[in-house]
Formats: sequence, C-alpha cells, structure tokens
Amino acid sequence: MDHPLPSDWRAANRSNWDERVPIHIASQYYNLEGFRAGNDALRDFEVAEVGDVSGRTLLHLQCHIGQDTLSWARRGASQVVGLDFSEPAVEAARALAEELGFGPDRASFVAADVYDAAEAVPDTSYDIVYTGTGALNWLPDVERWAEVAASLVAPGGFLYLAEFHPLTDVLDDETGSRVVHDYFSREAWIDDTPGTYADLDAETVNNRSVEWQHPIGEVVSALCATGLRLEFLHEHDVSLFPRFESFQRGEDGYFRLPPDRPRIPLMYSLKATRPPRP
Ligand SMILES: C[S@@+](CC[C@H](N)C(=O)[O-])C[C@H]1O[C@@H](n2cnc3c(N)ncnc32)[C@H](O)[C@@H]1O
Repeated sequence: MDHPLPSDWRAANRSNWDERVPIHIASQYYNLEGFRAGNDALRDFEVAEVGDVSGRTLLHLQCHIGQDTLSWARRGASQVVGLDFSEPAVEAARALAEELGFGPDRASFVAADVYDAAEAVPDTSYDIVYTGTGALNWLPDVERWAEVAASLVAPGGFLYLAEFHPLTDVLDDETGSRVVHDYFSREAWIDDTPGTYADLDAETVNNRSVEWQHPIGEVVSALCATGLRLEFLHEHDVSLFPRFESFQRGEDGYFRLPPDRPRIPLMYSLKATRPPRP
C-alpha cells in the first residue's frame, strides 16, 4: 500500500452496512418475498460460468443477507458457508436459511472480516470460493484479499468472481460517457451519500463509506501470484443497478447503456483454479 488508510475505514463501512441491512430486507431490489417463493438470486452468466455445483462445497465471501449463498444451496451445493463482517447481515442470512429449511450442516453463516476468513470459517478449504457483485470495492488491499481467498480453494477447486467493471468507476455519473476519474487511483474514495443502491431515497444516518477501485490487471495479477490458474476473464455489457442516470433497464432486469451508445464493459467475471493434488 502506498497511501495512508483512513483509520476508521472498517468501522465506518460496518456502520454503513449494518444500517442498510433492514432497508435491503424490506426492499424491492432484494425482493425477499420472491426469493422465499423460489426466485433465484444469481445472474444467468454466473450460473452458466460456475456450472454444476451439486455435491460441492462453496464458500461465499461478503455474502450480505445470504440470498446468493442460499441460491447455490438450492442449486445443490452440499454445504454453503457465507461470511460477512456485518452481524445484522449474518443474522438475516441465518434466519433466511432456517426459513428455507437449510440446517447449519447445509448452510452456515459467519460474522468476520474477509481478511480473517481463513481463521473464521469452519473448514480449511472449499471446492468453490465465490464472491463479488460489489465486494472488492470495500477492500483496501487486493493482494491480501487474493491470498486469503486463494488459500481457501481446495485442490481441484476454483475461485469465481463476478464484479462491476472498474472502467465504470472512472466515468461521469450522469451519462457514463466522459472519463472524469483516474483509473489507476489508489486513493480511498470517501462518500457521504445517504440511501443505498437498493433504495436511493432511504433515510440513513451512517453514510460515511470508504471504498477503493481495483483495476482488472491488479485483480488478475494478484490471483495469479497466489498460484491459482486463470481459466477465463469475461467482460459483460450489463449491470445490476442504475449506476449511471443514462442506464436503461431491459426486460431481463439488467441495466445497459442506451442502444444508440457504443458499448463498454460494465461487469466482469473470472474463474481461477487450483490444480488437483498430483
Ligand atoms: C454489495 S454487498 C455484496 C453483494 C452481494 N452479492 C449482494 O448483493 O447481496 C457487500 C457486502 O460486503 C460486506 N463487507 C464489506 N466490507 C467487508 C469486509 N472487510 N469483510 C467482510 N465483509 C465485508 C458488507 O457487509 C456487504 O454485506
């Protein structure tokens, strides 16, 4: 790290997330009612790229209220573990698992910082380590994240990451067409905007957030340095929320730039495997 960390980054982000959990539980964005009724929370490209999870163990880092984690359980993962540093998020995920009939042997949730995951989760390794959709931006040190995440991938297993594309971090909020921020900035991005992406008008008081942008080259290089082997890096022209005012929502629920605009990558996904034991 070549820049000072704001000393309150973790505490500020935790307060911010803790306050947003009940808002997200009540939100249309997370649509818990639909989820309880059987809706899958995963994105179609994630399901296709991760492939069949039946009989496999899966660790979800930064699992929030557990919908994605439990969607993998519904798809047949033999054991899912979700980790998040927000206690209210973990409590909500546990309650949801119980409601859906998944006992702790099938779905468990741990409250811990992602950097402490190796000590916090119940097993030493998992067939699949899954994460993303707004996870890496909360972490100051992507090399350390990669070391922790890779250390939890079992031999023959893989890490799968689906994230918002860092190119979107440099564009103007209104149109998403002008480059207004430094792609390579390592400075913490401090924000005080109330509300949340799931409810822009929600009234909130813990609004300070400390985030970082991570260029794709940095993420891929950090993972490769751990000994994982990159299988693919895909870029997607869709997003999950109205990141730019110019975004239009399609019938498939994804947000895109208007059709008359040249496309840019809005999300990316990657898979990195640990070779099986010889
Ligand atoms: C946008 S959510 C993850 C997206 C998730 N797929 C979803 O939409 O349900 C980000 C999550 O990261 C968690 N988080 C942020 N910083 C963390 C850290 N240092 N350690 C563990 N969890 C963290 C937050 O509590 C939050 O639940």
